[in-house]
Amino acid sequence: MSPAGKLLEWYRRHGRDLPWRSTRDPYRILVSEIMLQQTQVDRVKEYYRAWLKQFPTWKKLAGASNADVIHAWAGLGYNRRALMLRDVARSVVEHGVPKTEQTWLAIKGIGPYTAAAVSAFAQQKRTLPIDTNIRRILGRLLLGKPFTELKDDETIRSKADDFLPRRGAYYDVPQAIFDLATSICTKNPDCASCPLRQDCKAAKLFLSGRVKIPKRSVPVARERKHRNKPFPDRIYRGRILKFVRERGQVSSLRLGQMIDPDFDKHLDQEWLEAMINRLVVDGLLARTPKKVILPKG
Ligand code: ADE
Repeated sequence: MSPAGKLLEWYRRHGRDLPWRSTRDPYRILVSEIMLQQTQVDRVKEYYRAWLKQFPTWKKLAGASNADVIHAWAGLGYNRRALMLRDVARSVVEHGVPKTEQTWLAIKGIGPYTAAAVSAFAQQKRTLPIDTNIRRILGRLLLGKPFTELKDDETIRSKADDFLPRRGAYYDVPQAIFDLATSICTKNPDCASCPLRQDCKAAKLFLSGRVKIPKRSVPVARERKHRNKPFPDRIYRGRILKFVRERGQVSSLRLGQMIDPDFDKHLDQEWLEAMINRLVVDGLLARTPKKVILPKG
């Protein structure tokens, strides 16, 4: 049996039953994929259900205000994703649902991963969304590299064409890889339990004990540090947004103390202003002369 055939057989028996796997509705698939970027599956499950209750269709979402979607997204993090999703809905309501990967990609906010994911999972196209999981698993299986890098994507893509079946459930292959990636082919993989161990060059390396597991396989980008504040400042931006969401509006003067008990009104004011400004530029907050509020629109 081909490696992909073995993988699909394993998936039929061990795959997770996730709510977005029982639909081919491009709207639902897109919502799940955007939520799954940077957020754990278990957390996404709850938000996915609640979101679809509040915004069951493209049209409902397209009609939502910034404040509506920011409220509904509360707790998921990376709030820009919520506005981007709403803007995609507006584009779909105006121009129709894209029919090809290329036309998905032409929508602002949709990158190569998301375009391929919706094309495969909703529209059953034979394409491969490459995220960190797929990069790691196919890097091991097809290239024999224990730890793959971003620059390997082109090679993976060219080899994946032979790997993906030409008929049958090729669109399930990425889903099967997600599950293998979280259960068996983790950073420190359990090759002995893997359905693909006979086909995987990296498995031989791992099983022989010759692979050293790095502490971090992807270097984190260096960010600008301010005084004694921990990185990244996403934590503080999240707090700002949380207070404004809960209260509707917050005085700019009080916000510093609210998000950080160590806030110093001389040393930290500029740091706070910079964060507020980024949230305003991203469309997540608005300002009046004395207050920070949720944006209209
Ligand atoms: N990660 C990204 N997309 C996913 C999906 N559809 N199922 C599980 N994990 C994922």
